[in-house]
Amino acid sequence: MKTQIIYCSQTSNTRQVAQALFGAIGPDTTLVELKDNPEPLNGDLLFLGFWIDRARVNQEMADFMARLKNQTLAFFFTQVGWPEGPTARRIVQRTTELLTANSNVVLGAFHCQGRMNPAIIAMARRLPVTHPRGGYSFARAALLAESNLHPDQTDLAQAAEFGHEIMLKYLRRKQN
Ligand SMILES: Cc1cc2nc3c(=O)[nH]c(=O)nc-3n(C[C@H](O)[C@H](O)[C@H](O)COP(=O)(O)O)c2cc1C
Repeated sequence: MKTQIIYCSQTSNTRQVAQALFGAIGPDTTLVELKDNPEPLNGDLLFLGFWIDRARVNQEMADFMARLKNQTLAFFFTQVGWPEGPTARRIVQRTTELLTANSNVVLGAFHCQGRMNPAIIAMARRLPVTHPRGGYSFARAALLAESNLHPDQTDLAQAAEFGHEIMLKYLRRKQN
C-alpha cells in the first residue's frame, strides 16, 4: 500500500508532526512539502498537513485541497489556539465537509498546538491596544506561553498513533 504525506509549514511545527507520522507508518510512504511540487497523486492513502492562518487552512493547502477528488485521506494541522477551542473544531468540521463534498473519503483528523512565529508576536506587541490584533491580554500571554512548548513529545507520539489508527481504518475499509 502506498501512502503520501503532503504538508505546508512555515516555521517547522507542522513539519515535525509530518515527520512523526512518516516515521510511524509503513515503508512505502513519501513525505513532501507542497511547495516542492509533489509527484502526481498515485497513492492509496493521502495525509495532508497544514497550519492555521487567520482561523483558516493556510491558503496554499486550501487551494490544493479544492482540487482533490476521489481520494482517501486524513488531515492534520498545527495552530496556536487551544486544542479544544472553537477554531480547531470549526476547521475540522469545515475541512471534512469540503473534502467530502468533492467525493473524497476522510478517515480522520489530528491537530495540536504549534509555537507562534516570534516575529509575529513582536509585531503584535508593537500595535496599539485599540488595534484588533494589538494589546497583550493575560489570556493571550498564557496561550502563547503554552503554545511555545508545542509540538512536544506527547503531541508527536499522538501524531504517530493517529497515523497507525488511520492505516488500520484504511485496511479495515478495504477488507469490507
Ligand atoms: C500570519 C499568521 C496567522 C496565524 N493565525 C492563526 C490563527 O488564526 N489561529 C491560530 O490558532 N494560530 C494562528 N497562527 C499560528 C500558526 O498556525 C501556528 O504557529 C502553526 O503551528 C504554524 O505552523 P508551521 O510552523 O508549520 O508554519 C498564525 C500564524 C501566522 C504566522
